[in-house]
Amino acid sequence: MKIYKTIAEMRAASRQVRRDEERLGFVPTMGALHEGHLSLVRAAKAKCDVVAVSIFVNPLQFGPSEDLAKYPRTFDRDSELLEKEGVDILFAPTPDEMYPAGAVTYVTVEGLSEKLCGRSRPGHFRGVTTVVAKLFHIVEPDLAFFGQKDAAQATIICRMVRDLNLPVEIVICPIMREPDGLAMSSRNAYLSPQARKSALVLQRSLTRVRNRFDQGERDTAKLIEAGKEVVAQEPAVRLDYFEIVDPATLDPVRELTNNVLVAVAAFAGNTRLIDNILLDA
Ligand code: PAJ
Repeated sequence: MKIYKTIAEMRAASRQVRRDEERLGFVPTMGALHEGHLSLVRAAKAKCDVVAVSIFVNPLQFGPSEDLAKYPRTFDRDSELLEKEGVDILFAPTPDEMYPAGAVTYVTVEGLSEKLCGRSRPGHFRGVTTVVAKLFHIVEPDLAFFGQKDAAQATIICRMVRDLNLPVEIVICPIMREPDGLAMSSRNAYLSPQARKSALVLQRSLTRVRNRFDQGERDTAKLIEAGKEVVAQEPAVRLDYFEIVDPATLDPVRELTNNVLVAVAAFAGNTRLIDNILLDA
């Protein structure tokens, strides 16, 4: 596996892949890798000849009071894991390499960026779309792989790619979970054993909604109420949002006639966790 720290090296490698007429797959990450990330790598390996992964803890997507400084950084372990998966290229730029002094240009997917996590994390999705657009221009992949775990992020990136005619195909991969159902996340490492147990309430609330849906409930207000009730049973967890939205627009849905995204975000202690399911109407 080649490790590149500079944009120039990464571009040269990508040009070579194109000269060889091979398909380049790309998995952007912020490191602290787990099976969720590795599932994207495996999907990329299955569909592409050459796979590039980026590790970059993107300062632009963290709010002033968020966890940028303490975000887990485990580069040596991450690169070992990627090597084992047969990744060809690891792109790991420094913040200065990605954001030269005086950078003032951003990519914003208007409207969508203020929904779901965007409401409680102002500027977050602008940071995500700006860095992903930059990474796409540097890596120039044929396919790029994202997780359904970050459902709003997936929707927003698909919209950016469509609106800006970026020449990349986006592949969304299913949520990987711990054996007890907790959605895998780099932030799970912050959870105390107590908070780790409380965090299971997110998955339980989504299961309750799915059960009510399977029993025929189509009124989203009632489904949301049922989900919120479950979260409320866990006093150590503070709900941020519980919403049922159109997966393409992220707008709330009243009557459930098409496929919807059920999304929940909550704090377990100081750790913000998200989870979601898709319901097929
Ligand atoms: P990060 O949180 O490191 O996630 C990288 C990718 O892994 C994202 O596409 C995310 O949805 C996916 N992922 C995380 N947990 C997953 C799980 N349990 N199952 C399946 N996929 C999972 O998301 C980001 O980084 C950043 O915003 C990034 C896109 C890299 C831009 O900075």
